[in-house]
Amino acid sequence: MTSQTTCCLLLLTLVRCSWTDNKQVVKLVEATLTFSPDKDVKSGTTVYLNCNVRISTISTDTPSLQYSFYKDTHVTYAKNSSSKIVPYRIENVRAFHSGTYHCIVKSGTQKIPSEYRQLNVTGLQTPFLSLSNDKITEGEEVTLNCSAPNEEGSLDFTFFINSIPIKVPLRSGTFAEMNHIFNREANVSCKFQLVNQKEDSPISNVQHIVLSELLPKPIIIVHPSQNVTEGDRVTIECHSNSSLPDVEVHLQKDSKILSFDNVRTSSSFIALFDENPEYLCQSEAKSVRKSTEMRLNVQELFSRPLLKAEASDLSEGQTLRLNCSSVYLTAKRLNEPITYTFQKYQQNLISDNQTGIYTISGVSNQDEGNYSCHATAWRVRKASNNIYIRVHILVTKPKIQILESSEVIAGHKVHMKCLSDRGSPPVMYTLMRNKDVISRLTVMTDKMPAMFNVTVLNETLAGLYWCEAANRGGSHVVSGSGVNLTVIVPVTKPILTIISGNSVAEGSGVTLMCQVEKGTPPFTFRWFRNGERSAFYSNTTDKQFGVYENKSVGKQHGGKYFCQVTNRANKTMDSRVLMITVTMNIWKHIIIGLCVVILLLLVLFYIIKSKCPPAKRAKNADPDRNALSTLKHEEPPQESDGTGYPGEESNVRVSCHAPEVDFPSSNGEFPPPTDTEPCPDRVPLMATRHACSELRHSLNGVPDNMNATSVEYAELHHRGIEAEQ
Ligand SMILES: *[C@@H]1O[C@H](CO)[C@@H](O)[C@H](O)[C@H]1NC(C)=O
Ligand SMILES: *[C@@H]1O[C@H](CO)[C@@H](O)[C@H](O)[C@H]1NC(C)=O
Ligand SMILES: *[C@@H]1O[C@H](CO)[C@@H](O)[C@H](O)[C@H]1NC(C)=O
Ligand SMILES: *[C@@H]1O[C@H](CO)[C@@H](O)[C@H](O)[C@H]1NC(C)=O
Ligand SMILES: *[C@@H]1O[C@H](CO)[C@@H](O)[C@H](O)[C@H]1NC(C)=O
Ligand SMILES: *[C@@H]1O[C@H](CO)[C@@H](O)[C@H](O)[C@H]1NC(C)=O
Ligand SMILES: *[C@@H]1O[C@H](CO)[C@@H](O)[C@H](O)[C@H]1NC(C)=O
Ligand SMILES: *[C@@H]1O[C@H](CO)[C@@H](O)[C@H](O)[C@H]1NC(C)=O
Ligand SMILES: *[C@@H]1O[C@H](CO)[C@@H](O)[C@H](O)[C@H]1NC(C)=O
Ligand SMILES: *[C@@H]1O[C@H](CO)[C@@H](O)[C@H](O)[C@H]1NC(C)=O
Ligand SMILES: *[C@@H]1O[C@H](CO)[C@@H](O)[C@H](O)[C@H]1NC(C)=O
Ligand SMILES: *[C@@H]1O[C@H](CO)[C@@H](O)[C@H](O)[C@H]1NC(C)=O
Repeated sequence: MTSQTTCCLLLLTLVRCSWTDNKQVVKLVEATLTFSPDKDVKSGTTVYLNCNVRISTISTDTPSLQYSFYKDTHVTYAKNSSSKIVPYRIENVRAFHSGTYHCIVKSGTQKIPSEYRQLNVTGLQTPFLSLSNDKITEGEEVTLNCSAPNEEGSLDFTFFINSIPIKVPLRSGTFAEMNHIFNREANVSCKFQLVNQKEDSPISNVQHIVLSELLPKPIIIVHPSQNVTEGDRVTIECHSNSSLPDVEVHLQKDSKILSFDNVRTSSSFIALFDENPEYLCQSEAKSVRKSTEMRLNVQELFSRPLLKAEASDLSEGQTLRLNCSSVYLTAKRLNEPITYTFQKYQQNLISDNQTGIYTISGVSNQDEGNYSCHATAWRVRKASNNIYIRVHILVTKPKIQILESSEVIAGHKVHMKCLSDRGSPPVMYTLMRNKDVISRLTVMTDKMPAMFNVTVLNETLAGLYWCEAANRGGSHVVSGSGVNLTVIVPVTKPILTIISGNSVAEGSGVTLMCQVEKGTPPFTFRWFRNGERSAFYSNTTDKQFGVYENKSVGKQHGGKYFCQVTNRANKTMDSRVLMITVTMNIWKHIIIGLCVVILLLLVLFYIIKSKCPPAKRAKNADPDRNALSTLKHEEPPQESDGTGYPGEESNVRVSCHAPEVDFPSSNGEFPPPTDTEPCPDRVPLMATRHACSELRHSLNGVPDNMNATSVEYAELHHRGIEAEQ
């Protein structure tokens, strides 16, 4: 209490002091802002903002105070007044005035603000839409004016033309304009918005745009009628009855301009049946366009022709028969015949034929192609479908050719070519052997041969090869002549056999048989003696064996033997090597020796008795040396020339035979006796020979004649057949 009293006293003293000094002592205590009638008002009302200040003063006179009203941060109104309450009047308040207000009161250096208060104005003005013209003609430009004169601030305007909104660019001011050309009736209105506010203004008055016609619709006239038949002449006229100068009219068919002119145009044509075309007549003046449409009903007079062929796939020489037909679809012109024209690749073949039949007898491949026809009646011509006529050339007899030789070695490949001179592809060639099908090939290209590759494995593939050619899907088949294919089978390794055994007594016969198991005859057999380069005997025969026979061997015939076989396949095979041993019978030799001695003595005696001329001495044969004769190299015998081996008794020259080479050469001649070792006496050869041969006969018990040889041969032959089987 005491402190309060003290303070109060102090303040009073101070006030008194200042007042006594200045007479104007004022203390600003509080400022308040109020809205009248309310802080929430409707647009259009008059609002008072009252700034009320409370002061403390000693004097009775109120001092002058400076009042400032703020909207947000801007001063909107200011007044100097000595009154303690100052009103700020806003007439016809607008949404624009909504915002936060406060006031500040100043007195000298003192300054006091009020609280912030918000003013909320609801509702926008209804805008007004006006037009630049009262009467609008089509094609004329109109200015639309939307205004809201009572609003303040920036406004965003939107026009509506038949409810479609069109925004105009933002500009300051309370109205907006827009130009537009109307081409039909419309309802136009507008609205606005305060920038940065969501609230829309009410929609303006609606202006109903009624256009006054500048250009009337053009008129379309059809002669003779909108309903016509194909082939009728139709005239379509398009004209405008507008009084305007420079009216242009167009006549169009499916957006294609048929004719155009000023005021009036027309087009005349033969009506054709095509999906009911639409005709359009259009008039144009001062950028205004008017059009009238019309659909022409064209009735089809006759049907589209149908081209048929009895057969479209023909063989050369057959008959082509084409039939073109069409029928009347209306009874209108039945007395007018329909005529037909035939074409091949657009080239006329026959014209104006009423039967609609076209025939070519004996077609050739020149008649192949695309055919069509046209039907004509009452100025109307209609094209048919196309038909492709094929003319096939039938295959001729195919020829076969073996590219290599007609003689082939087994295991080799041969190429056979089949070709017919003529024939439309595809041609199927069949390669046949005798009656069997070997292979088939289809050739797709004209004049192309069929190449068959045949691997001839063995002789079973030999035979008559021929070709068959077929085309037209196998319905035409021809056979050609054939070629004989000979297969030559190469020889196999031959088997050498010594018929009489490996050991042969001197003077007896030996037979060598060379036998081949496989191969194509004729075979050439060759016999070789040890180490000799050329054969001492050869024989070419169709039999599967060859025989070499030596009727009487000498010791020099002992040795190694082999045979060789070959045929046309040119493959030569050697047999294994066999050994032949020539033996001599000792006691027989002794008897022979004694016989010789006796004979010699007799002869010697005879010679001595008579006059004896000088004679060649014969070398005495050593029986021991002859007992086992091994192979000796001789002059290679000449190959057999086919005169045959001399198998006669003449070679049995066991007596006083001086030369080692007493075996006859292959030509069957005896070599001349050598001078180095002559016989002591010349013995009549025939006598000696005869004696010895008789001796031999007695020993063998077999008569020495040709029969022995033939028996032996027959036996051998028989064995050979056995081997063959
Ligand atoms: C109020 O008085 C002040 C100071 O005298 C002066 O500067 C100001 O312009 C006056 N304001 C008005 C609205 O008269
Ligand atoms: C203004 O008044 C309207 C209606 O009374 C009200 O809906 C709106 O919220 C008020 N706005 C503000 C900012 O107070
Ligand atoms: C549009 O209306 C406003 C207000 O009525 C006016 O000031 C303005 O001149 C008008 N504009 C035209 C082109 O008529
Ligand atoms: C325009 O408004 C009138 C009356 O509301 C209506 O009858 C007419 O169909 C409207 N016109 C168009 C083009 O929308
Ligand atoms: C044409 O034919 C249609 C029916 O096919 C008919 O309705 C129409 O009246 C005809 N018009 C004329 C001009 O004969
Ligand atoms: C033009 O033709 C239209 C419709 O046929 C008709 O209404 C109009 O009166 C005509 N105008 C003149 C100038 O002939
Ligand atoms: C039409 O063609 C057929 C068959 O080719 C023939 O017999 C007939 O004479 C032709 N008629 C005319 C008018 O050419
Ligand atoms: C046949 O042989 C030849 C060449 O050797 C080859 O070009 C061809 O394709 C063969 N033909 C067949 C059907 O194998
Ligand atoms: C020939 O060859 C064919 C095919 O390989 C075979 O079937 C046939 O037995 C052979 N014939 C002979 C005689 O070898
Ligand atoms: C093929 O051989 C057989 C039998 O050998 C014979 O009859 C025929 O005439 C021969 N054919 C040809 C074309 O040589
Ligand atoms: C075999 O050889 C002879 C001579 O060399 C030759 O003339 C013939 O053509 C050949 N034969 C074969 C099928 O090779
Ligand atoms: C070949 O042998 C056969 C019997 O095998 C015979 O008839 C023919 O004369 C012989 N040919 C030659 C040249 O020796």
